Amino acid sequence: MKLYIATGNEHKKKEFMQILQGIHCVLPKDEGISFDPEETGSSFLENALIKAKALFSEVKQPVIADDSGICIDALGGMPGVYSARYGDKAGKILNAEEKNMLVLQQMTGKQERSCRFVCCIVLMLSSDRIYTVQETCEGIVADKPFGEGGFGYDPIVYLPTFQKTVAELSEEEKNRFSHRGKAGAKIAALLKML
Ligand code: IMP
Repeated sequence: MKLYIATGNEHKKKEFMQILQGIHCVLPKDEGISFDPEETGSSFLENALIKAKALFSEVKQPVIADDSGICIDALGGMPGVYSARYGDKAGKILNAEEKNMLVLQQMTGKQERSCRFVCCIVLMLSSDRIYTVQETCEGIVADKPFGEGGFGYDPIVYLPTFQKTVAELSEEEKNRFSHRGKAGAKIAALLKML
């Protein structure tokens, strides 16, 4: 089965290919389709639906879209849906390392360090057949970045269960435990059933 993934993010594609084994995952850019819809939603679900509908209207074939990010309790749930563009200003886009340093700076002196990654996946099979799953991965904001794996905020999220940051997990561990891994496994089970 061929499934379009409504993202341009290669890290996400790699994780989805590992999670949705046996399914042929294709990015829009793999087929020369330009895809960059404006994420105007105020929730992960709204944004995932925007992306799924935008790509489905182009390809008219099954698509999955995810919207994900990190919610930090001491920052009132931020960066949340703004995770990909957190701290960006006109003329200055922060890279992942800079975003992590910004978050760590904002967390200086805070005792309450609970956070969670959230991933909402929308599976759209036709304009009227839409399934959604949202999952989380609970962690604690670390004092400093650790680890080389993963992407984005992985180096600053410490998982007490593993006594490691997400960036220190193997790919297999991350996919088993992560927000995207758990949501993706449910989508994979759903696809098998359908
Ligand atoms: P999206 O592509 O609009 O869903 O943006 C998601 C953003 O949230 C990414 O650019 C990362 O900054 C962050 N994010 C989402 N999932 C992960 C993850 O698994 N690890 C680290 N950061 C993540």
